[in-house]
Amino acid sequence: MLKLVTTRQLRGLFAVRRCALAVCAVLLATLIGEGSKLAAQETGASNRLIALPAPRQDGATSVERTLTQRRSVRHLKGESLSLAEISQLVWAAQGVTEPIEDPPSMWRSSEWKWMGGLRTAPSAGALYPLELYLVAAAVDDLEPGLYRYVPLEHALEHVGEGDRRQALAEAALMQSAIVDAPAVFVITAVYERTAVKYGERAERYVHIEVGAAGENIWLQAEALDLGSVFIGAFHDRDVQQVLGLPEDHQPLGIMPIGRKAEDWRERRGI
Ligand SMILES: Cc1cc2nc3c(=O)[nH]c(=O)nc-3n(C[C@H](O)[C@H](O)[C@H](O)COP(=O)(O)O)c2cc1C
Repeated sequence: MLKLVTTRQLRGLFAVRRCALAVCAVLLATLIGEGSKLAAQETGASNRLIALPAPRQDGATSVERTLTQRRSVRHLKGESLSLAEISQLVWAAQGVTEPIEDPPSMWRSSEWKWMGGLRTAPSAGALYPLELYLVAAAVDDLEPGLYRYVPLEHALEHVGEGDRRQALAEAALMQSAIVDAPAVFVITAVYERTAVKYGERAERYVHIEVGAAGENIWLQAEALDLGSVFIGAFHDRDVQQVLGLPEDHQPLGIMPIGRKAEDWRERRGI
C-alpha cells in the first residue's frame, strides 16, 4: 500500500541527504588536499604551478659565437619577454636533461636528497643546491610577481605578488639594470644540501655551481640576442627580505635580463 509521506518526514529525508552530501564534500576536499600535498612533496612546491613551454634543445647560434659575443650588458630595454624566452633561460640554468627517478646504487646516505635526475649545469654529487627565482615585471602571460623554477616539472611556482625590482635594486647598490629589466633572475643556494655529503668543502662547490648556472643563463641569453649581467654586489639580508626567501635560500647572484638598448656598448662602464 502506498504510504503517504508527511512534511516532517520529507524534511527529515532532505536533512539526511544534505548531511551525506556534506560528508562527501569533506572527504573529497581531504582527498584533493592529500593529492596536492603529494605533488608538493615531489616538486618541493606548495603554490600554484605555471607550466612553461618546452625548451628548444638546439639552436642556430654556435657555442663559439655566443662565447665571442657575450658581454655584460647593463643597459636594457623595458620591452617584455615571452614565456618561451623565460622557459629557455631557466632551462639553461637548471633544466633537467636526464630524468632518473631513483638514485644510483652507489647513493649511500639517506641524508643525500635525490633530485630526480641530471641537469644542464653540473652539481657536486648531483645534490643540486641551487634554487632559481624569477622577479617578473614584464613577461607575456605572466603576472608581475616572484616565481621559483621547479626543474622536474619545468614549471614556475608562483611564490609572491607584485613588481619587486625597485626594492631589489635598492638592496643591490641601486644598480639600474635591475629596474630596467623586464625580468631578473636571482640565483640562491641551500648550502646544507651539499654539506650533508661534503662538509666544509660544500661552500666552495656551491659557489662553483652558481658560476656554472650563471654562465649558462648568460650564454643562453646571448643566443637569444638578449642582454644580461651577473651582479654580485648586494646586501644578502636585504635581498632575502625583499623576496621573502626561506632562511636557508642564500642569494648568490642577480641577473637582470632584457633586450639590449641600442647604445648599450657606448654607455657601458667596465
Ligand atoms: C662574480 C661577479 C660579480 C660581478 N658583479 C657585478 C656587479 O655587481 N655589477 C656589475 O655591473 N657587474 C658585475 N660583474 C660583471 C663584471 O664587471 C664583468 O664581467 C667584467 O667587467 C667583464 O666584462 P664582460 O662581462 O663584458 O666580459 C660581476 C661579474 C662577476 C663574475
